[in-house]
Formats: sequence, C-alpha cells, structure tokens
Amino acid sequence: MSRETVLITGGAGFIGGHLVEQLLKKYHVVVLDNLSTGKISNLPSSPHLDFLFGDVSKVSDIDNAFEIYTFTYVFHLAAVASVAASIEKPLETHQINMDGTIHLLNAAKKQADTIQKFVFASSAAVYGSEPTLPKKETSVIAPMTPYGIDKLASESYVIAYSRLFGLKASAARFFNVYGPRQNPDSPYSGVLSILTSCVERVSNGDEKAIFNIYGDGTQVRDFVYVDDIVSGLILLAESDESTSEVFNIASGENHTLLEVIAIYEEIIHQKLPLRFESARSGDIHKSYANITKIKNIGYRSQTTLREGLAKYHAHETSQEVMVLI
Ligand SMILES: NC(=O)c1ccc[n+]([C@@H]2O[C@H](COP(=O)([O-])OP(=O)(O)OC[C@H]3O[C@@H](n4cnc5c(N)ncnc54)[C@H](O)[C@@H]3O)[C@@H](O)[C@H]2O)c1
Repeated sequence: MSRETVLITGGAGFIGGHLVEQLLKKYHVVVLDNLSTGKISNLPSSPHLDFLFGDVSKVSDIDNAFEIYTFTYVFHLAAVASVAASIEKPLETHQINMDGTIHLLNAAKKQADTIQKFVFASSAAVYGSEPTLPKKETSVIAPMTPYGIDKLASESYVIAYSRLFGLKASAARFFNVYGPRQNPDSPYSGVLSILTSCVERVSNGDEKAIFNIYGDGTQVRDFVYVDDIVSGLILLAESDESTSEVFNIASGENHTLLEVIAIYEEIIHQKLPLRFESARSGDIHKSYANITKIKNIGYRSQTTLREGLAKYHAHETSQEVMVLI
C-alpha cells in the first residue's frame, strides 16, 4: 500500500529533523526549507523523503509543493526561531513568521478535504511576562517581542481557518525545547544547547570553557526534551479532539538553571566553570506550563530532565567520537 504524504516546513531544523525521523516510520515525508538555519545533515537519507528547497514567504514555492503533492498532514515549523533576530529585523521576520503562515494556510485550504490536520508550531513566548504560573492555554496572553506577536497572530489565523474553511487545524505552544542537533552557536541559542556545548568542552579537558549565567541562575523554565515535542505534535495531528484548539507542549516540570547545572555536574562527575553576568533586560524570570489540556487527549511527557540531559550528553559525546575516528 502506498504511504500517505506529510509536509513539514522547517523540517531541516532542530525540531523538524526529529519530527521527520519519527514520521518516516509510517509516512512519505516532504520537507520544505530554505536552509537559513536548518541543515541537510539534520535529515536522514530515505527513499520516503523528498526535500524541496523553498521559502515559506514566497507563494510560488508553497504553491509548487501543493501542486506536486496531496497531503494528509501539514506541520508548519518554518520560522525565524530567534527572538533576538525578530527584534533586530521585525519586518523581515514578519514576512516569514506571519505572512508565511497565511500563504501556507491559503494553499492548505484548497486541500481541506484531504488534510487530516494542519499543526502549527507556536511558542510560550505568546504568554509574555505576566507573572501568573503555571501557564495555561487560558492564561493572560501578552507577547513582548515581534517573535511572540507573530506566533500569536499565526496561531489565531490557524484556528480561524479551521473554523471558517473546515481546514482541520491546531496550534502547539512549545516551552523550552532541548536535545541533540540544537545549534549552540549564537549567544541567543537555547540555554541548554550552550550549556551542553560547555559540558562537552569541560569533559574534553578544555580549560578555557566557561558558562555565562545572566542573573543569579534562579530563573525557572519548563525544559522539554525534543522527543516529547515530536510525540505531542504527532498526537495533535492524529487526534480527533485537537481540531481548532491550542495546546501547551511542555514537560509540566520546572527547574532553575542552577538545578540544571547541578544535574549536568552529576552526569559528568565534574564541576562546571561558571561566570555570573548581569541579567539581560527583557528576560522572563519564570516560565513553566500546565499541560493538563494535552494530557487529557493522551499526551505523556516521557523524559525527565535528568534522562534528557543524559541522552543529549551521550549523543554529543558519540558525535565527537565519530568525528575523531
Ligand atoms: N526550540 C525551541 O525551544 C522552540 C520553542 C518554541 C517554539 N519553537 C518553534 O518551533 C519551530 C522549530 O524551531 P527550531 O528550534 O527547530 O528552530 P530551527 O531554526 O532549527 O528550525 C527552523 C527551520 O525553519 C527553516 N526556515 C526558516 N525560515 C524559513 C523560510 N522563510 N522558508 C522555509 N524554511 C525556513 C530553517 O532553515 C530551519 O530549518 C519554529 O517555528 C520555532 O519558532 C521552538
């Protein structure tokens, strides 16, 4: 029997690559990506995978994909995923993070009869710094950056298209995602990718490695392992109960940065060299999720922070062994 076809925009990125791997077990996967931050090396080689080099802000690139294929699921992950980049270049970011979503919805609308679910990657950034915790889907929404504003507008469009045009769709607000292949190269990369890169350098005896903490390390986050995000996204795609709804995807646990560092120190049996810098303006002190809504449709966060960090570290170590060989 021939496989059903799934579109993943941004599939060559950190989260996208993991989603591709999982979906290839069952589906034919089409990735649409402009490789601005994504990499071909994030994609496995498979006869069931097609790569389309394209830009979601260009209608012609999207139309091309929908002319070639009929999709069962669409996962929209392509975005400028950096909050700092969105502050520096709001208009350019908006053309990708907002207009790109509308272009994709317009194309998907024409396949509303065959698309079983359109799933959009939103973010906890929509909640902003309003202090009530944990964040529920019904909590106050107050995005503070162009990135958060475009995510909120995009998820609102996704739900509106679901109600207006019968395109079955849902949006997922990811909290702080971490795991293998996350890019640590920018100072604004996810804190765990930068920390993990420091952990690898320390374990390899690099005496110059140092980890900068902005503030006193008591900031709290809900760190969610990438495999749990992937299983949440697939659940939203396959569930009948997710249509026209927005869900948090997170671990449901919360940890301070100092706790994360202590867990890593136990894993590598070494102390990490730390440098405390002043807190960055605009940083939210505490953010973590209530995940009852997605749990009620069957989600289970499978990976504790300790397990996730151990897997991440083991993956990075094995990569280095491969490079050395
Ligand atoms: N990583 C997190 O903690 C986190 C948290 C909340 C939400 N998200 C969202 O999840 C999604 C995936 O994030 P990620 O961490 O994997 O980031 P990433 O940068 O690794 O992935 C984004 C992908 O989109 C592609 N892309 C960017 N602009 C594009 C364009 N104009 N056309 C086509 N492709 C384009 C990039 O090349 C890349 O492959 C994003 O929408 C991001 O906003 C991520």
